[in-house]
Amino acid sequence: MSAAIRRLGPDDWQAFRDLRLAGLRREPDNFGAFHEEEADRPEAFWRDWTERATVVGAFGESDALLGLAGIYLLPGRRMRHKAQLFGMYVAEPARGQGLGRRLCEAAIAAAKALPGVTQVQAVVWIENRPACALYRSLGFLQWGLEPCGTRAADGTCCDNARLTLRFD
Ligand SMILES: CC(C)(COP(=O)(O)OP(=O)(O)OC[C@H]1O[C@@H](n2cnc3c(N)ncnc32)[C@H](O)[C@@H]1OP(=O)(O)O)[C@@H](O)C(=O)NCCC(=O)NCCS
Repeated sequence: MSAAIRRLGPDDWQAFRDLRLAGLRREPDNFGAFHEEEADRPEAFWRDWTERATVVGAFGESDALLGLAGIYLLPGRRMRHKAQLFGMYVAEPARGQGLGRRLCEAAIAAAKALPGVTQVQAVVWIENRPACALYRSLGFLQWGLEPCGTRAADGTCCDNARLTLRFD
């Protein structure tokens, strides 16, 4: 698919919010937050997010936002060699066409450009086969398994794989 991958700026906040909330609503178990936790956040929250983190998007025809991936630096001097991948999401009709891979690669490239960063971390529900396969194919290694790392929408436990991609 001939989508353009670029970093989102504060003025992309509405498209960012809409796609993120669509993902949280449709597939809550594939995210670390529930829809209702973010649905009422004000404009400033979304604008600020694009500045505090690097959020990359895949833009298709008419500049429609089709997918997202984010990277943020962990806080504190002892953690600042690590960047966290978050919010990977490709809208269902656009899946299976390489956008998830391109977004993930762009997020990793953004992490590599941050001074001192030597690894990207990711957390994934072990039953999320597409995401597990994507991360593995990009070289992420699993170093841990967190039992009940997140709660599913129905209150049951999701066990999460903890992954890292090192480039030091
Ligand atoms: C995971 C996700 C981002 C993949 O996006 P995508 O655009 O469909 O992915 P791509 O087409 O770029 O495929 C990249 C790789 O992902 C894996 N993959 C994608 N879809 C898959 C599927 N249905 N089954 C197994 N592996 C799959 C494959 O390894 C694939 O590489 P290949 O094409 O060389 O086999 C997408 O399925 C999604 O948004 N899922 C819901 C949200 C989510 O799970 N986010 C991650 C939370 S940790």
